[in-house]
Amino acid sequence: MKENQTNQKKKQYRPLQKMFMEVPPKYDLLNRIFTWRLDESWRKQAVKEILKDKPDKVMDLCTGTGDLLFRIAEQAWPGTELCGLDFSPPMLEIADQKMRSKNLEGIRLISGDAADMPFDDNHFDAIGIAYAFRNLTFKNPDQQKFLKEIYRVIKPGGKFVIVETSRPKNRIMDNLHKLYMNLLVKRLGGSVSGNRPAYHYLAHSATNFYTADEVCDLLKTIGFSKITYRHFVGGVAAMHVAVK
Ligand SMILES: C[S@@+](CC[C@H](N)C(=O)[O-])C[C@H]1O[C@@H](n2cnc3c(N)ncnc32)[C@H](O)[C@@H]1O
Repeated sequence: MKENQTNQKKKQYRPLQKMFMEVPPKYDLLNRIFTWRLDESWRKQAVKEILKDKPDKVMDLCTGTGDLLFRIAEQAWPGTELCGLDFSPPMLEIADQKMRSKNLEGIRLISGDAADMPFDDNHFDAIGIAYAFRNLTFKNPDQQKFLKEIYRVIKPGGKFVIVETSRPKNRIMDNLHKLYMNLLVKRLGGSVSGNRPAYHYLAHSATNFYTADEVCDLLKTIGFSKITYRHFVGGVAAMHVAVK
């Protein structure tokens, strides 16, 4: 009883939030290793797409340690309003250190939840999200809240660009991907990071996530149109572009 009362007084975390408070120290390094540095080249493709129409206001949603955000900042038109939002203070702390070391200015790092963002309707010309759309949508009870909130803060005609793990269409490739995630990423990530549940979740969610076509259907139900995607490396990752 006493223990229950103590637990109730503890901070209430959003789904997955506690897990992302504990990943940070080796997070970037493990991303580079497990994707053979391809995560960076996929982010680059997203940046190209995000900046294609010279947007005035851009957000990197679930910015984490800021890897997509800073790539955007380095290539954006001067005067572009840029921000990154995330609900993990330790991730944002690393993003802040990186921002200072890169001497980047005028970027806002916002601690907040994707389900309730501190922006007016129709605010952004473009929103990018790298390797977090799965977190917001895979078996997440708040999936619809997140998607509606993203749609709300994008301007009509604005873009939503997603880089995420995906499911290869080829069965052999899909099985190889599952082996890689379950044997290597889950085990090695878990032991090197010291956070087994996080890498267990990564392997499980990535290998059971929506196919690229299912992501298109999901975006369509929210109201997005002109939805396109391209697969990378046989389908282990994908970039979706959708327009409000
Ligand atoms: C796998 S990391 C990706 C980070 C970064 N975008 C990148 O490219 O490396 C997922 C990030 O999403 C954040 N996140 C997950 N759910 C969120 C939510 N509901 N609101 C805000 N941030 C969230 C986590 O804190 C974490 O930093």
